[in-house]
Amino acid sequence: MGQYEIHAFVCTQGPWCPRDGDAEGVHKRLKKLAGEHGQKSRIRINHSGCLNQCGHGPMMAVYPENVWYAHLTPEAAEEIFHQHFMNGVPVERHVYANKPGANKVPRDEEGNLLEDICCKEEPR
Ligand code: FES
Repeated sequence: MGQYEIHAFVCTQGPWCPRDGDAEGVHKRLKKLAGEHGQKSRIRINHSGCLNQCGHGPMMAVYPENVWYAHLTPEAAEEIFHQHFMNGVPVERHVYANKPGANKVPRDEEGNLLEDICCKEEPR
């Protein structure tokens, strides 16, 4: 077992997640909740760089379970904290699954997404 029971990486420093939503707000909300609930020795919330899933963000990867989340908001993060981090049940409507490796959604020159995407990606 690692140093933390739950180690979450929120993509706040990639090129797109911070532009596609409130990635910083997601990180802040989780960090605040971990502190308020006395969970800092059990749950670690880290900033991360690009997780290679740009266009599905804001993204978060949770280890050691290897549960990934997409299209996060601070409100969704709060739900994840209570339901998943405190009670062990992932929040399915934000769970992200895709084929292994990089899955970046193409964009035009202005950064607009070129594919219609939804919250839960099915493995291809
Ligand atoms: S910018 Fe967040 S996954 Fe690439």
